[in-house]
Amino acid sequence: MSTIMNDERIPNNVNLSSDKRLQRALEAWQPSFLSWWQQMGPMGFQTHDIFLRTAVSVENDGWAHFDYVKMPDYRWGIFLEPKDPNRVHGFGDFEGQPVWDEVPGEFRNMLRRLIVTQADTEPASVEQQRLLGQTAPSLYDLRNLFQVNVEEGRHLWAMVYLLHTYFGRDGREEAEELLARRSGDSDKPRILGAFNEPTSHWLSFFMFTMFTDRDGKFQLAALAESGFDPLARTCRFMLTEEAHHLFVGETGVQRIVKRSCELMKQDPNGDARKGGGIDLVTLQKYINFWFSVCLDLFGGEVSSNAADAFASGLKGRFKEEKYAEHKLVESHFAMDVLEGGKVVHKDIAMRNALNEVLRTEYIKDCARGVERWNKTIKDEGIDFELKLPSNKFHRQIGIWTSVPFSPDGEMLTPEQWEANASKWLPSTDDEIFVKSLMHPVYEPGKMASWIAPPSKGINNLPGDFEYVRK
Ligand SMILES: [Fe+2]
Ligand SMILES: [Fe+2]
Repeated sequence: MSTIMNDERIPNNVNLSSDKRLQRALEAWQPSFLSWWQQMGPMGFQTHDIFLRTAVSVENDGWAHFDYVKMPDYRWGIFLEPKDPNRVHGFGDFEGQPVWDEVPGEFRNMLRRLIVTQADTEPASVEQQRLLGQTAPSLYDLRNLFQVNVEEGRHLWAMVYLLHTYFGRDGREEAEELLARRSGDSDKPRILGAFNEPTSHWLSFFMFTMFTDRDGKFQLAALAESGFDPLARTCRFMLTEEAHHLFVGETGVQRIVKRSCELMKQDPNGDARKGGGIDLVTLQKYINFWFSVCLDLFGGEVSSNAADAFASGLKGRFKEEKYAEHKLVESHFAMDVLEGGKVVHKDIAMRNALNEVLRTEYIKDCARGVERWNKTIKDEGIDFELKLPSNKFHRQIGIWTSVPFSPDGEMLTPEQWEANASKWLPSTDDEIFVKSLMHPVYEPGKMASWIAPPSKGINNLPGDFEYVRK
């Protein structure tokens, strides 16, 4: 049973006070976390009252509490899904055997790397979004930004709990490093590429929460299958919070799309930019950029690391239970690879193809979001279709990096790429234009020119609710 301890310095449902050494270690890490938050968390607004939800339990109904809170007073806690004493490994070489409550010695390094890589993305995204509060399109959006930020902070806590509890001294050192790396820093960058890209305006913020947080969903879902039970239980609860981040991204872009269509109809030449909107052609370029950058987060197409993580029972597939077979020793995955400069469709040993399997699920999930955006465009009576680019377009990791491809997946010469890249990806001018629209709108109920209001408020609150106040 999980008992909630919300009155302790670190709220938790892991009975932290029963392990004094661990409690002391985490309480010693807490001031470092808070000073990182002050230094690298949202700029400004630290003394404002923000209408936020705080995780207070892991019950399905009512796990969150909503109220005004000043961000530095947010109760970052440690919450794991309750333990299922009968749980067994769901996949890999140990399928059917009881899951592990301690780190298996032979897989210690691999497990630590998986946890640290996931953990590193959490503070990274807070750093990337640090300045966005200065230009929020509404108080509703400002609040959602801060909600995402404090929860990424909590996700860092969740991962640091695992490092401190199960990895001894090197776990504590990793926890320190997590606060020492900085997104975009040339000396101490964050581990993964997309987490070093600046999120310098709100269009990129919505693309980030749509595409990058969605990568997070798939990575967490794969780790939620883990045979290392504390990791599985941690990730399961993180996914509950993650759903809101994805909502922020998908509906954020949808509201921009809607506004663009409205402005197109108001302008005699159908130009959304004239009315202070972001035109659909520019939106498409940002989709191309963020989607392709996020595809890289899944790693190489053919990967022995992915095979090892699956074989050892540490990282499964997305919704492992929906598959019939869980060992994957004889099976294959049919996928495109590059051979002798040509794209060929080929069977790859399934365990080695697991990055591509997860990426394929991710692409399907992204496509559903794009479909909903296209429905908005259609409902507005505009003839335009947004599209996800090919998985081969603009890749920096894996087999598609050696030759350029168009968004339609057509192989190009370097010259063809050079001649067209600015049509497909945001140019410096696009960045300047989008940034020129970013002016803060802090009056309750008001929206910036380039985005439509949300269809309803947080918790069904009225449109003019003061989500952020002095
Ligand atoms: Fe997260
Ligand atoms: Fe997130």
